[in-house]
Amino acid sequence: MKAAEMFDLTGRVALVTGASSGLGQQFARALADNGAAVALVARRADRLEAFRAELEKTGAKTIAITADVNSRDDMIRAFDEAEKAFGTVTILVNNAGVAQQSVRATEVTPEEWRRVLSTDLDAVFYWAQEAARRMLAAKQPGAIVNIASVLGFGVSKGVAAYAVAKAAVVQTTKALSVELAFKGVRVNAIAPGWFVTDINGSYLEGEAGAKLKREIPMGRFGQAGDLDGTLLLLASDAGAYITGATIVVDGGQIVQIKG
Ligand SMILES: NC(=O)c1ccc[n+]([C@@H]2O[C@H](COP(=O)([O-])OP(=O)(O)OC[C@H]3O[C@@H](n4cnc5c(N)ncnc54)[C@H](OP(=O)(O)O)[C@@H]3O)[C@@H](O)[C@H]2O)c1
Repeated sequence: MKAAEMFDLTGRVALVTGASSGLGQQFARALADNGAAVALVARRADRLEAFRAELEKTGAKTIAITADVNSRDDMIRAFDEAEKAFGTVTILVNNAGVAQQSVRATEVTPEEWRRVLSTDLDAVFYWAQEAARRMLAAKQPGAIVNIASVLGFGVSKGVAAYAVAKAAVVQTTKALSVELAFKGVRVNAIAPGWFVTDINGSYLEGEAGAKLKREIPMGRFGQAGDLDGTLLLLASDAGAYITGATIVVDGGQIVQIKG
């Protein structure tokens, strides 16, 4: 079979959380470019709408849905709206996330812990759960792609809550995958290395970022598009026998032992 056929998403309905900026926009673009109808979800309505209009100009079928991933009512409404527009969501990209204020573990407040865990872990589980429930009810196979991080495997100082949340996303992916595999719902994750976006721009473009870049074997941060191939593999029939996996896309960062 030709690669274009294996990766083709024509007729699929995708929902991308955190589609108002950064990686989420790139994920939505990659899905739309390969034929999926895409529901764009985030809180900033103006940015979502501008992006929706941009995608539409390329011929994509898209809808913008303003929603907070931490609100159960918003979540139900988002799936309902996407379903009404295009049919059952069969590809969920669980991408919305927040960075942690960089402080030592001893200084993390309960409020900060909850803020990070709520968006970066709880919402990932609940949105995956809702997507899976709807796919099962509609008897439709599908793919859930959670966005973890290299910080789900290793840790840095000052980001305990974020690293714990992302490690739990890796485990959530495994737990859901074994329970949903028999119904044809695959659950996988991508663990990106450093990509310059709103979440980390000021950090990566500063002095700490320059040092970090030198420690990446490929000698550069990730660029828009570096995650497209992995996303399309996990979302499409090209990845039909892959479930429970987390694919690291980081320019070699986490396998390196400094010597
Ligand atoms: N950039 C990296 O180097 C990197 C590396 C590893 C993993 N990641 C992960 O990749 C994902 C995307 O990050 P990014 O770098 O693209 O950051 P970003 O540019 O800051 O984007 C984060 C997105 O999440 C959305 N979001 C945050 N809280 C939300 C909420 N409560 N409800 C709905 N949407 C919410 C934001 O939209 P609104 O503010 O409009 O709601 C925004 O669209 C995150 O899960 C992040 O942890 C990023």
